[in-house]
Amino acid sequence: MYKNENENELRHVAFIMDGNGRWAKKRGFPRTLGHKKGGEAFRTVARACKNAKIPYVTFFAFSTENIKRPKEEVDTLFGLFREYLFDAEKYAADKTRILFPGDRSIFPPDMIQQMNKLERESAGFDEMTLSLCLNYGGRADIIQAAKKFGQLCRDKDLRPENLDEKIFSGLLYTKDIPDVDLLIRTGGEQRLSNFLLWQLCYAELMFTDTLWPDFGEKDLLNFVNIYKTRDRRFGEIK
Ligand code: IPE
Ligand code: IPE
Ligand code: MG
Repeated sequence: MYKNENENELRHVAFIMDGNGRWAKKRGFPRTLGHKKGGEAFRTVARACKNAKIPYVTFFAFSTENIKRPKEEVDTLFGLFREYLFDAEKYAADKTRILFPGDRSIFPPDMIQQMNKLERESAGFDEMTLSLCLNYGGRADIIQAAKKFGQLCRDKDLRPENLDEKIFSGLLYTKDIPDVDLLIRTGGEQRLSNFLLWQLCYAELMFTDTLWPDFGEKDLLNFVNIYKTRDRRFGEIK
């Protein structure tokens, strides 16, 4: 069947970057090395998305549940996030807008400051918006938005009966970005693990056994091509 390209426009791709630990284990390395390799894959894939002219790209780097992992692993991950944050200024030349959806209050003050600074200073870039989800949970996101809405009703002139999807979307951590068109999860598991529950509402879901450190530009382009063949009906008859 002929497909109109515009119907399958790809505005927003999100990644659940899973499989770093298994990648390392398979090779007899510590899990921490898997995360380091995962960080490299993240940079490669972010660049590939830019080359493919995808305007919104989102990566799940640390869930609200991941804090329950052993301290050594959490410390390694925070160290990698720190490296990225203080390196990211280098990427300003990239004209990429950077956002950090999630509850950043668990991070050290200098990291929080740097996240705020990068968001502020990159706000004018519009070639690509890269969201790195740190201490992000889909349910936590919905709860914080509901709390905000309650406060707005109490303190401003919003009314509960006026709440609609647009207003609610605007209160989520992802308020500045459109809903996800394509979700890619590496590492073989077929679940959402509390990622973007609201924003994935009509996303096309794709899963691969490839472990995140092995995922690259070729894999991305392969999924983008599959996406173009999908028939997105949004509940209608087309
Ligand atoms: C994904 O890789 C990275 C994070 C969750 C931070 P994992 O660490 O979950 O790797 P596996 O699933 O154990 O292989
Ligand atoms: C999801 O991976 C979280 C991230 C990729 C950041 P997990 O490895 O934490 O998910 P589960 O535990 O397999 O569901
Ligand atoms: Mg995992």
